Amino acid sequence: MSSSLKDKIDKRNLPWHIAIIMDGNGRWAEQHGKIRTFGHSQGVEAVRDTAKACAELGIRYLTLYAFSTENWIRPKFEIDALMTLLVDTISAETQTFLNNNIRLLTIGDTLGLPETCRKSLNECMEKTKKLDGMKLVLALNYSSKWELTEAARKIAAQVESGKLKSSDIDEKKVAENLNTAAIPDPELLIRTSGEFRISNFMLWQIAYTELYFTPVLWPDFRRDDVYKAILDFQKRERRFGGIKAIKQHE
Ligand code: IPE
Ligand code: IPE
Ligand code: MG
Repeated sequence: MSSSLKDKIDKRNLPWHIAIIMDGNGRWAEQHGKIRTFGHSQGVEAVRDTAKACAELGIRYLTLYAFSTENWIRPKFEIDALMTLLVDTISAETQTFLNNNIRLLTIGDTLGLPETCRKSLNECMEKTKKLDGMKLVLALNYSSKWELTEAARKIAAQVESGKLKSSDIDEKKVAENLNTAAIPDPELLIRTSGEFRISNFMLWQIAYTELYFTPVLWPDFRRDDVYKAILDFQKRERRFGGIKAIKQHE
């Protein structure tokens, strides 16, 4: 099954950057008669399989939305479990990153994360910084409105200090001041768990991204689901405001 789906993928038309809103851990746990945090732990296997599948295919960037600025309103017990899981997973998976030539990056307000999380993230980013394979971007304490507000603040400071004229502010300048300044926009955005919303994720960057929604709950998501999403993406006609390309008759 797995190899046949993978074989159908056109290697010349791969998305350069795939972003995923990993959702449905709580519902998965509920369906299995477990507490919500069990669903989060099970989600780690989905991350591992997805990252390996994308790296193997030659995807250049994989961004995973792991914790939003809104997720702080969850019960303390769940937040603590998520933060502990993050520390443990990053430490345990650093070898997987090294073996698969994956470089770790983050976006989001990581200064707002507990010290233990920042430490394990920094260690892993340092150890993988020279790797030139896929970049795994974890969106942590991230929200798009926060990111855009920060960008506005940074740009305003440049204008205030006289380094920049307001008439020189263009789309490039805004993009340069986002957390994703060094990361191309995703071509494909996947959301699991059957929800049809964006939940404050990469609002600027997904202006022309192809959206793919699947009912699969995140802990059940595996490489075949990645392949299905890419195959669906490859059937789309991306127009960017233009018109359908007319086939020439011979
Ligand atoms: C996604 O799963 C993980 C995070 C948002 C941290 P959820 O915890 O949102 O699971 P559901 O949506 O309640 O099922
Ligand atoms: C989005 O999932 C955030 C992450 C996946 C980290 P949520 O579960 O927080 O989104 P809503 O609340 O259903 O919109
Ligand atoms: Mg959710």
